[in-house]
Amino acid sequence: MVFGEKEVLKDINLQIMRGEIFALVGPSGSGKTTFLRLLNFFERPEKGNLEFNGMETSGIINIRRRMSLLFQTPAIFNKSVFENVAYGLKVRGIDKKTIEKKVSEALDIVGLSGLGNQKARTLSGGEAQRMAFARAIVYDPEILLLDEPTANLDPANVMKIEEIIKRIRKERETTILLATHNIPQVRRIADRVGILINGELIEVNTKNAIFKNPGDNRSEAFLKGEMIY
Ligand SMILES: Nc1ncnc2c1ncn2[C@@H]1O[C@H](COP(=O)(O)OP(=O)(O)OP(=O)(O)O)[C@@H](O)[C@H]1O
Ligand SMILES: [Mg+2]
Repeated sequence: MVFGEKEVLKDINLQIMRGEIFALVGPSGSGKTTFLRLLNFFERPEKGNLEFNGMETSGIINIRRRMSLLFQTPAIFNKSVFENVAYGLKVRGIDKKTIEKKVSEALDIVGLSGLGNQKARTLSGGEAQRMAFARAIVYDPEILLLDEPTANLDPANVMKIEEIIKRIRKERETTILLATHNIPQVRRIADRVGILINGELIEVNTKNAIFKNPGDNRSEAFLKGEMIY
């Protein structure tokens, strides 16, 4: 992926397995958000291709509807919590009854039951992030892309979000790709890890293998927190 003169992602070759929690880690500016945006078709690569279940994505109708991206800084509409969460269902033309049921389930999962009528902009930071999470999962995506879902949260809300991630995977078998700076979080919830440095995916391995025996000096430095970012 090239922006102007800058090559932001270089020859990435990565397979995400169904139902896994894959953590994409790397210093600030290494290309994590750009990579998630590519997967969600917000950006188009100059070369290469994306496959979904072994099929070239250009041949699959409605693939975007099967994925969901939780943005690094989610936008909050100046409406109720219910309206914010219902958004993705409304644009899909879902009937009112189903919307009510799905929104209520999503709010329950993120621990915000009963706050549907509150103005979203009056939520606390942690609640707002959980609302954004509910909005991302309300239409049962098969693939959930999470861009730093716990950045700027206090430890209690970090734990809540991590519990939600684990629960979604367990109950819905959602495939989860998580971009994060938070190395302890990777240890807590990831199955596999990819290390992205300067747009290069330098190492991909299971969590246990990568922490025990990083195959690259830069991975080791990053995982130990010795790399400045
Ligand atoms: N639309 C764009 N135009 C020009 N440059 C861009 C654009 N989007 C991203 N970049 C650049 O690409 C690089 C990677 O950005 P990206 O947001 O993907 O990094 P990141 O790994 O998500 O960083 P962070 O951890 O800070 O969120 C940065 O140098 C950024 O300035
Ligand atoms: Mg980012």
